[in-house]
Amino acid sequence: MIGVVGLGYWGPNLARNFSELGVLSHLCDLDPALRATFASRYPSVRVTDSFEELLAADDVRGVVIATPVPTHHALAKQALEAGKHVLVEKPPAMRAVEIDELVALAAERDLVLMPGHLLLYHPAVRKLKELIDAGELGDVLCVYGNRQNLGIVRTNENALWSLGVHDLSVILYLLDEEPDTAVANGRDFLTPGVEDVVFCYLRFPSGKIAHMHLSWLDPHKMRKMTVVGREKMVVFDDMELERKVTVYEKGPWKRAESYGEWQTRSGDIYIPKIATDEPLKLECQEFLRLIDGEGDRRKVAEDGARVVRALDKLTVSLHG
Ligand SMILES: NC(=O)c1ccc[n+]([C@@H]2O[C@H](COP(=O)([O-])OP(=O)(O)OC[C@H]3O[C@@H](n4cnc5c(N)ncnc54)[C@H](O)[C@@H]3O)[C@@H](O)[C@H]2O)c1
Repeated sequence: MIGVVGLGYWGPNLARNFSELGVLSHLCDLDPALRATFASRYPSVRVTDSFEELLAADDVRGVVIATPVPTHHALAKQALEAGKHVLVEKPPAMRAVEIDELVALAAERDLVLMPGHLLLYHPAVRKLKELIDAGELGDVLCVYGNRQNLGIVRTNENALWSLGVHDLSVILYLLDEEPDTAVANGRDFLTPGVEDVVFCYLRFPSGKIAHMHLSWLDPHKMRKMTVVGREKMVVFDDMELERKVTVYEKGPWKRAESYGEWQTRSGDIYIPKIATDEPLKLECQEFLRLIDGEGDRRKVAEDGARVVRALDKLTVSLHG
């Protein structure tokens, strides 16, 4: 069974999915009003203010943490030490040393430590990964993400942490590499110390490069990821309803008779069908599969650590 801690904005979505999957047994929050609401919504579920009580329940195999980010490391550590599998909302920790400690603890106890990187369960992102891994795009050269809008203006978390964690998790998943260079530049125009506009540059050991533009001070509402390969290029546009993924048969080539000069080629443009499955449901199902011993739980934890390490590097660079 599963216990969910944190019933603010996001936790209820996780609770709903685990309830629909028939495995929700415990809910926990410090706020009495929220506890009352959820006790009446899920009458057969135990609702408590005590995380220790949730950890002490023998029937709880997995703990889902949807509390504010600064609490993630301590709660995840406590849950792993209590022998529970953990799904922790993004980002799973704030510092590289913290996530490395959690990964080591999970490995030592052979427990699941899964970060809640929702976009990795988006069928469109899966399609991008499938196209890359099948070699459809040829060598991947660069990837870039755009996550911009006017608002919501955050005052306690900058654009890198609030928006960037999504795109970073996708870029590292697609390329399956850890960047050796991570540079960020940005400005705190509205709230001192909280960057509203951030530009990031990543370079990987293979030579591939990536970029992220993250901002809540922008006229465009964009949620886009572009992958440029030598043979084809692909765009995932999450603002589109039906054309989530577009594949462009475009690329550079050299014509022998033009003495090695670069030419460009434009062929068909096609739109693969993308399933409409709810990414959060797929994420919750993946957690249950990992608990049941399917999949590679160590890689899932390591991939989560990679994201936090890159975030940490970008943060140092941003404040450099
Ligand atoms: N995957 C996504 O798309 C997505 C979207 C939104 C939020 N999130 C993540 O979800 C997490 C929670 O965000 P939110 O917006 O729901 O926050 P929130 O502040 O709305 O809710 C957090 C809740 O946790 C409770 N809480 C705090 N400390 C606790 C403790 N020690 N024990 C029990 N309860 C405790 C609070 O009372 C509050 O109800 C964050 O990590 C955020 O990044 C993810």
